[in-house]
Amino acid sequence: MAILKRSTPRLLIVDNDPTLREMLTRFFRQREVAVIDAGDGAAALAKASEDRCDIALIDLQLPDVTGIELLAKLKERHPELEVILLTAHGTEETAIEAMKRGAYGYLTKPIKLPDLDAHLQKAYEKVRLARRERQWLDHVRYESPRYQLIGSGPEMQRVVQLIERVAPTDATVLISGESGTGKELVARALHYNSKRCKRPLVTVNCAALQETLLESEFFGHERGAFTGAQQTKPGLVEIAEGGTLFIDEIGEMLPGLQAKLLRVVEDGHFRRVGSTKDVHADVRVIAATNRRLDEEMKEGRFREDLYHRLNVVSLRMPPLRERRPDIPELLGHFLTTRAVKRRCFQVQADALQALCNYNWPGNVRELANVLERAQILAEGHELTLDDFPESIATAGLPPAEFPVDSMNLRELQRRHVGHVLHVTKGNKPQAAKVLGINRHALYRLMVKYKIESLPVSDAVTVNGAC
Ligand SMILES: Nc1ncnc2c1ncn2[C@@H]1O[C@H](COP(=O)(O)OP(=O)(O)OP(=O)(O)O)[C@@H](O)[C@H]1O
Ligand SMILES: [Mg+2]
Repeated sequence: MAILKRSTPRLLIVDNDPTLREMLTRFFRQREVAVIDAGDGAAALAKASEDRCDIALIDLQLPDVTGIELLAKLKERHPELEVILLTAHGTEETAIEAMKRGAYGYLTKPIKLPDLDAHLQKAYEKVRLARRERQWLDHVRYESPRYQLIGSGPEMQRVVQLIERVAPTDATVLISGESGTGKELVARALHYNSKRCKRPLVTVNCAALQETLLESEFFGHERGAFTGAQQTKPGLVEIAEGGTLFIDEIGEMLPGLQAKLLRVVEDGHFRRVGSTKDVHADVRVIAATNRRLDEEMKEGRFREDLYHRLNVVSLRMPPLRERRPDIPELLGHFLTTRAVKRRCFQVQADALQALCNYNWPGNVRELANVLERAQILAEGHELTLDDFPESIATAGLPPAEFPVDSMNLRELQRRHVGHVLHVTKGNKPQAAKVLGINRHALYRLMVKYKIESLPVSDAVTVNGAC
């Protein structure tokens, strides 16, 4: 692959007349335009997949497809590419039809070179603007509070400091942690705080595809490499050129593919499926896993050499239960950034207590989802224990200390009902929910055991800033 300055326009000329292609190639090369040429539609599609092109100059009459069909296929695969069509006299109507389908413009043969040059420069400006807009959108997406790493406690601050130190380097990073702890968020932070931030961040999830598909997804394939491979297709490693390849759930990758990935991590080389030629890509690799890769390695399921290559910097995401003081901050963050019904909710004190006590097996993702559900269920402006799942509501209860060995069942029930009413501060619907019975059954038990009612708590401590 030729190495060119990023600002050089890359032009794909598709015409079955070799003399015209040669003349145009000479003309544009003198103007510092990189030219790739093809004699028919199939060759054009293959070359556009191999090399990034900015503009395609396509003759309307090609041996295998019409210019309009080729335009549609190219635009589908490379949406930022602009197409200029070449038409003969009398086919202008077709060219106008092509404009409706997304062509940048058309020129009638015989071509006037200054006109063509002017068209090309303007089309290239459009391509550059579209790219800048996409980069800006990526930037906004990153800057948006939705992608901020929340947590001012020491565990999260250690993660943030490590990101700040490692992001500007090209070091491979292995992020580990339970599901929902923010591994993907960290990968984004590493990419967008690196010098590669203007180039793509490409994610590939190893758990989502079976091995053969995964290999072709990673490294691309040649035309005819397997049944159904009708066109040469670049892999995600190539698409990430100059940027970052984020390999999610790497613990799921099978050994055959691990060996091929090792080459990419070592020196950037790989082969497309069905090819005998090495290709080089400049990518930074970030990998994530919720498995213990060191144990997988000891068990022989993960290659030792790849493990050490990936683990240049290792970053462990703490589970939420190990950083409970961050919970109120996260609640405030999600109530603001993922507000439901455009309402400003507050969290009642006992609900907050329960949220802080709960074990959060699904970590921050579970917290965000539970909060969204609670906002949907809430009737007023307060989120109460009733709006949260029972497993969370019961987490608000400190463990009861009963001398269990010396108590009969009746006494145990009396004390437990009293305890739950005490902890829920006399809130009967909540107490009934915690006990897993309806309100009438609770009243009956209160009468039976002569348990008095207590006043209901009204404290409120967590606010979503609106
Ligand atoms: N520290 C944090 N601050 C704010 N939001 C967070 C934080 N950590 C995670 N989240 C949010 O929680 C959700 C899950 O995060 P993410 O997808 O990064 O987790 P993960 O570790 O990759 O999970 P999995 O292993 O299941 O893929 C996302 O919506 C993310 O924005
Ligand atoms: Mg993830």
